[in-house]
Amino acid sequence: MEFLNKIKLIQGGMGVYVSNWRLAKAVAMQKLGITAGTVSGTGLDWVYVRLLQLGDPGGHVRRAMLAFDEKFGIRIGKKILDTYFVEGGKKPSSRFKNPPQQIVRALDGSDIIPLPSQPTVPVALSFDNDNIELLIATGFAEVWLAKEGHNGNIFINFLKKVELPLVYTMYGAMLADVDGVIVGAGNPDGLPAACSRLVNHEVVNIDIQVLYREPGEDFYVPFDPHQIAEGKFTQKPLVRPALLAIASLQALVQTLAQSQSEAPDGFIIEHHTAGGHNAGPQGPIRLDSEGQPIYSELDEPDLAAIRQVGRPFWLAGGYASHEKIQQALAAGATGVQVGSVFALAEESGMKAAYRTAIFNEIKKGTEDAALVKTTLFSPTGFPFKVVQLEGTLADDDVYAARSRICDVGLLQQRGFSKPDAEGRRHLFQRCSAAPVEGFIKKRGLPHNTESRRCLCNGLLSTVGLAQGTNTKEEPAIVTLGNHLNSIRRLSHQGQYQYWVQDVVVDLLGE
Ligand SMILES: Cc1cc2nc3c(=O)[nH]c(=O)nc-3n(C[C@H](O)[C@H](O)[C@H](O)COP(=O)(O)O)c2cc1C
Repeated sequence: MEFLNKIKLIQGGMGVYVSNWRLAKAVAMQKLGITAGTVSGTGLDWVYVRLLQLGDPGGHVRRAMLAFDEKFGIRIGKKILDTYFVEGGKKPSSRFKNPPQQIVRALDGSDIIPLPSQPTVPVALSFDNDNIELLIATGFAEVWLAKEGHNGNIFINFLKKVELPLVYTMYGAMLADVDGVIVGAGNPDGLPAACSRLVNHEVVNIDIQVLYREPGEDFYVPFDPHQIAEGKFTQKPLVRPALLAIASLQALVQTLAQSQSEAPDGFIIEHHTAGGHNAGPQGPIRLDSEGQPIYSELDEPDLAAIRQVGRPFWLAGGYASHEKIQQALAAGATGVQVGSVFALAEESGMKAAYRTAIFNEIKKGTEDAALVKTTLFSPTGFPFKVVQLEGTLADDDVYAARSRICDVGLLQQRGFSKPDAEGRRHLFQRCSAAPVEGFIKKRGLPHNTESRRCLCNGLLSTVGLAQGTNTKEEPAIVTLGNHLNSIRRLSHQGQYQYWVQDVVVDLLGE
């Protein structure tokens, strides 16, 4: 993992599809080896299915899918194209056809899981093969496109909370020789070891959290690469990518460094001012007058303790300037991870209308604190940064006017019903941003639904892939970090657009 020590600037993974292959590639091609571009691995199956129904502008998805089939002598890419590609694109008045939701079942395909006779024996669950193929293929395609035509570093980012698709998409990314995997939003212990096993195509058991299980019960979905595509992926060992864990404080870094299985190769130390999801404050949650979580010194990482762990680390959250990078290096970091400033670059996947709306706010003089709020909107329960833009889910009226449909379901939790009349327990999936009655029927507490907004649909809308029609579509939700100085500087106070190259020169010099 020598190459890690050279990387001064990581462009952070930004879901869904904000940091897509174009952005990651543009970053990786600047100052080869000193930078890493990161694609977002979240929701790629949904993104690709929608791009195909828009007629696959530029033909990139088709190119990548055919390269996938050709490389391994398979027909999975072709099957995906046959299922979703619409020549010339769907009509603006028609909705997208969705891929199957990611639902876990008992091995017999039902939702009934008998009570355990031996609670200590982990129980295997099943997951649909079409889902698995789509996840592997889209993980491959996104990394393949990002890596095409250069030797720079391409990483892929995942949220640990979205636990089921992660391993399949990571395997797809590894089939395309991804250089690094970055995992946030949860404790990634076990993933470095899973990644090492996948190098040799060994079976990996994906842990599945199930609410209301019996004490001692554990559930997993077994993934055996030999069972997919008639074992065609398994001819040669893969290259082991670096695995970096995102942590906000030293405690998780120290725990992971002493993992019983395998430690991560490095750490991203992400401050709570970073864009996207953040760790909650230490101790009981306190809110300010606007309902934002209050952080304190307890939430500041102890960098001396992190240095002592002896693995490379990068600082994230407000580090997008030459001075802040020098500060990070002086503190012993290998470099920094930067997100927000790249999210507004021309190569970003964020729809131009939202980038322009943010520039307009900056031009008007709206201050950082008024433009970006820390909210509890996310169904994950983690704080989530939201840009205050009219017409988006940041607006309470827009939120109230939306039906609480849950038709994507990537953030659903799994749990058991209370026993039915025959004493059987059913496995369910639920989301706190879904219809309230349904959530309560699935043993949810009403107060946990308050203010929870659909990030799946919202984030797909942010990158121009909204479900709906030309008369009504899902509202977007836009995230950025608290520090917008670099965006102000590079856009000349919101007056002009900028490109990745401008950002890299600004941060690292000519
Ligand atoms: C639009 C946006 C989306 C993000 N999405 C993710 C994500 O899906 N997963 C993740 O680990 N981090 C995500 N982040 C965090 C970035 O990877 C990065 O750590 C962060 O932006 C650094 O702080 P900065 O925004 O102050 O530069 C996101 C950030 C932004 C701005």
